[in-house]
Amino acid sequence: MFETKIGSVVLKNPVLTASGTFGMGEPFEDFYDYGILGGVVLKTLTPKPRKGNPPPRLYETPSGLLNSIGLENEGFDAFAERIKKNNSFVSWKTRVVISLAGDEEGDFAQLAAKASQLPGIDLIELNLSCPNVHAGGATFDAESEAVYRIVSLACEKSSLPCIVKLSPQHCCQCLSGREGGGFRCHHIQYLSGYGYRYSPKEICVCEKVCRSLRTSD
Ligand SMILES: Cc1cc2nc3c(=O)[nH]c(=O)nc-3n(C[C@H](O)[C@H](O)[C@H](O)COP(=O)(O)O)c2cc1C
Repeated sequence: MFETKIGSVVLKNPVLTASGTFGMGEPFEDFYDYGILGGVVLKTLTPKPRKGNPPPRLYETPSGLLNSIGLENEGFDAFAERIKKNNSFVSWKTRVVISLAGDEEGDFAQLAAKASQLPGIDLIELNLSCPNVHAGGATFDAESEAVYRIVSLACEKSSLPCIVKLSPQHCCQCLSGREGGGFRCHHIQYLSGYGYRYSPKEICVCEKVCRSLRTSD
């Protein structure tokens, strides 16, 4: 009844995990029945391993959770080697979506081509809301033409359907007039926020955060 199609891939329902919230899936497979979901989106992989951001990475607020993980991951090749030898994707009885990010534009197509060859992967999510290291840290989706170039090439090189994950600041401009071109879009990556805690010992941290809040107003 809730069956949903993304490209040629049929999902039993439209409920998917958000990338990273279940890691690479394995840590939770004994605690949660993935079979009730439409799919599991794996944590984003990059061409090289990344250590991620220094702590604090998670900050609980009265209305939600702020995160600043910084794409910590083992790197695409290490993941690929590991799951070629052994993966439990079939036992999850759901669709598996690999999430990819690059350091530069060309990385997305290269990783998408390699990801299409991996066992047990059904769909590709292109995480375009990560920073382009060659563009002073601006995200890949900051420029709509870049989104078009990256996604077109990744779709061409991949044999699996691609979903594009965009940040809220840019999704409207990126999509204008383009969504008909076979893109499937995931709106949106998280909204930015600040978390600050007042304590006499942390007064410097608080002042710093407050200052940046004021200058960005
Ligand atoms: C612990 C944690 C790790 C995350 N890792 C990734 C990631 O690797 N790639 C990604 O695209 N988003 C990542 N996200 C963002 C989520 O996929 C999602 O976009 C975000 O939490 C916003 O969704 P929400 O408003 O429903 O929480 C992560 C979020 C959390 C809380």
